[in-house]
Order: sequence, then structure tokens, then C-alpha cells
Amino acid sequence: MRAVVLGASGDMGRELVPALIGRGVDVVPAHRTTGVDAYTGTGLDAAFAGADVVVDSLSVTTQSAGRARDFFGVAARNVVAAADRAGIERIVCLSIINAAHPSVNAKFGYYQGKAVQESVYRELAGDRITMVWSAQWFELAQRLMSQMRLGPVAAVPHMMSQPCAAADAAQVLADAVTTPGGDIQVAGPETMDLCNLARRIAERDGAPRWVIGINYGGPTIRRGGLLPTGDVITTPTTAQAWLDAAT
Ligand SMILES: NC(=O)c1ccc[n+]([C@@H]2O[C@H](COP(=O)([O-])OP(=O)(O)OC[C@H]3O[C@@H](n4cnc5c(N)ncnc54)[C@H](OP(=O)(O)O)[C@@H]3O)[C@@H](O)[C@H]2O)c1
Repeated sequence: MRAVVLGASGDMGRELVPALIGRGVDVVPAHRTTGVDAYTGTGLDAAFAGADVVVDSLSVTTQSAGRARDFFGVAARNVVAAADRAGIERIVCLSIINAAHPSVNAKFGYYQGKAVQESVYRELAGDRITMVWSAQWFELAQRLMSQMRLGPVAAVPHMMSQPCAAADAAQVLADAVTTPGGDIQVAGPETMDLCNLARRIAERDGAPRWVIGINYGGPTIRRGGLLPTGDVITTPTTAQAWLDAAT
């Protein structure tokens, strides 16, 4: 099996590529440094030639709804068009549990982008799309601290989540790539506020000195709107085990 991984250099891509190689998959890593730009479409045809499946693990760093909607919508359209030209029958899209729900994303621009991405794939790829919805990753708590940081102070949104390790989510995603099936949800073993996880990371690392919880992104996000309902694959690594392993 040959799989194109779009976003191969990202947090997930770096975990997914070795997970797929470990399953005997011939992986084509794709991101802008490899000459593939999913937004402009450059390089997609060359990367997709001879592939059986495409994994969309692209992202854009923004909280602007306009920018997120534009990026994810345009990229998904380009991916489907290139997959059509290459005769690729399967696209696996990595998304976020409940991010496409209007009640969850009304005040969260990035999640509105994910909603557009999901609907473009549904509309244009139909049965060829497999959605893998993941909960937030432990690594996101770390990333949020660096995004809103002023000296010794970091601001982190209160987000109730069932977070998981990106490495665990990558194993589930790799299984979804190699073993075709329906859409799936993946989440970690415990429910927590990502802001509290950020505090535990800061305590372990000795910085930032203060992590301030902020209300950002609307009340649904802090009141359980991101939690999975229905069938979910639960990953093994606890937050504490991840904290201990990452020292
Ligand atoms: N973080 C979480 O907790 C979480 C949870 C669930 C699902 N997800 C989803 O998982 C996906 C991957 O997230 P991530 O955190 O791994 O992303 P990330 O670390 O920000 O990496 C983004 C990747 O996309 C590539 N990229 C960006 N623009 C591109 C373009 N125009 N053309 C080609 N490649 C481009 C980047 O490479 P270059 O910059 O080199 O091009 C990079 O490889 C996202 O869709 C996200 O919504 C994230």
C-alpha cells in the first residue's frame, strides 16, 4: 500500500509516518518543504501518482475563522481534485471530535475551518472519505502555552476534553489507513480541563511560572462540548504517564 501523508512534518505527521512504515506502508511524506502545497495545489499530482490512499493531516496556525475556513476548504477541494485525477479511492481525514458542530465552533474560528474541511470532503468525496475524529492531544496543552505567552505568564483556554497522546492517536489513525472501515473517534482515558494539564506541564518544566485559565471560544468548549459521545476508541497513555515520559 502506498499512502501520501499530507502534513507529514506536523505534530501528527511526525508520529504517523513511522507508524505507517511500521505497518509495511510505502509512505510519501508531503508538506511544503517537499514541494507539495495543498493550498495552491502545487505538487499534488506528482505526490499522488501511484498512491492508494491519502491522509489529510494538514493544519494552519490561526484563530481567524476566515483564514481557517479558507485554508481547510481550498486544501480539501484541491486534495479531492488531485485524488480524482490520480484515481485514488480513499482519503482519510484527521479531524477533531465535535469541532464541526455549530454549537461548539460558533466562537472558535479554527474549528469553523475544520467544519468546512469536513463538509467539503463529505460533499466531494462521499463514500471515499474516512473521518478520524480525535480528541485534543496532550501536546496541544503545551502548544497553547507557547502561543499565548508573555514572559512568565501563559494564558490557556479552559477546554474540557478527554485528551490523548498524539503518538497513541497516530496508532489508531495508522490502523484506519491500513484497515478500511467506517468513521471513528479516538480519545484518551481521562476527562480534564486542558488548562489544568498545561499547569502540570509548567510545574514539571519549571516554566512558565503562571498559567492563567481564560474563557475563550465560547461556553460549550468548557462545559463538555468537545467530549465524545457514542463509540470511541480509548487510548492507553494517561496524562501522568505522558508527563513522566516526556521529561
Ligand atoms: N492538536 C490537536 O490536539 C489535534 C487534535 C485532533 C485533531 N487535530 C488535527 O490534526 C491535524 C494535524 O494537526 P497538527 O497539530 O499535527 O498540525 P501541525 O503540527 O500544525 O502541522 C501542520 C502540517 O501541515 C503542513 N502544511 C501546512 N500548510 C500546508 C500547505 N499549504 N501545503 C502542504 N502542507 C502544509 C505543515 O508543513 P509545512 O508547514 O512544512 O508545509 C505541517 O506538516 C489538523 O487537521 C488538526 O486539526 C489536532
